[in-house]
Amino acid sequence: MLMYLTAGESHGRNITAILEGIPAGLGLTEEYINKELLRRQKGYGRGGRMEIEEDKATVTGGIMSGETIGSPICLVIENRDWREDKDEKIYTRPRPGHADLAGALKYDRQDLRDIQERASARETAGRVAAGAVCRKFLLEFGIKVFSYVEQIYNARCKPISSAELKELYSKIEGSPVRCPDKGIEKKMMAEIDKAKENNDSVGGIFRVIATGVPTGLGSHIQWDLRLDGRLAQSVMSIQAVKGVEIGTGFDFAEHTGSETHDEIYYDKKRGFYRKTNNAGGIEGGITNGEDIVLRAVMKPIPSLKKPLKSVDIRTKEPVLAEIIRADVCAVPACSVIAEAVVSFELAKAFKEKFGGDSIKETKRNFEGYIEQIKDF
Ligand SMILES: Cc1cc2nc3c(=O)[nH]c(=O)nc-3n(C[C@H](O)[C@H](O)[C@H](O)COP(=O)(O)O)c2cc1C
Repeated sequence: MLMYLTAGESHGRNITAILEGIPAGLGLTEEYINKELLRRQKGYGRGGRMEIEEDKATVTGGIMSGETIGSPICLVIENRDWREDKDEKIYTRPRPGHADLAGALKYDRQDLRDIQERASARETAGRVAAGAVCRKFLLEFGIKVFSYVEQIYNARCKPISSAELKELYSKIEGSPVRCPDKGIEKKMMAEIDKAKENNDSVGGIFRVIATGVPTGLGSHIQWDLRLDGRLAQSVMSIQAVKGVEIGTGFDFAEHTGSETHDEIYYDKKRGFYRKTNNAGGIEGGITNGEDIVLRAVMKPIPSLKKPLKSVDIRTKEPVLAEIIRADVCAVPACSVIAEAVVSFELAKAFKEKFGGDSIKETKRNFEGYIEQIKDF
């Protein structure tokens, strides 16, 4: 069983992630994890916080001499703008679109910071650190997870295929908005600039693609084992993500069955395969050997310099919401976080299928299964 938890507040001493279930013998360094943390921090449209933080994970358990040893992996990321002398100001003007009001009522907190501190996407530094370990685990078996940004506000690029993705990936990684199309990249940046000038915020759409995924992860036999549902839950749990689709997703509504289902072919060398991938690599909650393709939407950031109407929780008087330092757009970062949570969910399904307390054992099980389906 693979599982993880995160702990820590946005301006607390640190963010911690504990990941349990990674087999022993996986080569892993802090540098590898830190490279992923850096990817999360980048992106045009981020606020001042990202200039303060330079996220670095310290491994405090589970890795010795550059290898996992089978015990829980503990990753600690220091918050650089943590201050012991927390200022006395109390926040009482909830921001529409944030967890402030619902959280304060639920947990009976009079200072909205008690909610904001944990609801904040700073927590995702922990998820990305844990996801980096999962990514390294998946790589051992040839599974790679990518992402790119398809839309920011009104600027939209056309979807790219998995084949194009490999070619375009260095462009995506080099783009401040993680967009493969230079012309659209400019338009996306202009949308962010416009929102910033207007003291507003914008959201958008990103895609996550996993390649090299074997047939047979996830299962149809029980609702909570279906991999499409699990991936949707993982990605939807990222702060501000409000929609997830697999493969053709919502566009299925505009097509007939005969137009959309991916016909089945067989080749002695390739085994069973498809010429299309509208299913996004999952049928019946089980991976079918094609790439996993997932698309998600992030809503605009709720903290605004031009605040919306709210009510003071102390006085019950109408006020404008709190103005808090914030990102104008975080869709590029969100796509990197989505890679991390998808990596976790795939690694979890992989561990369920192939087990193993050591990488050697997991590999033996994996290779045996690959031989088995070749001979099917
Ligand atoms: C990478 C990332 C950065 C974010 N930055 C901010 C921010 O600076 N200010 C803000 O109000 N919300 C930000 N959000 C969104 C909020 O965390 C989110 O809207 C809030 O927790 C409420 O959750 P919900 O939108 O899922 O309902 C960010 C989200 C992500 C994924």
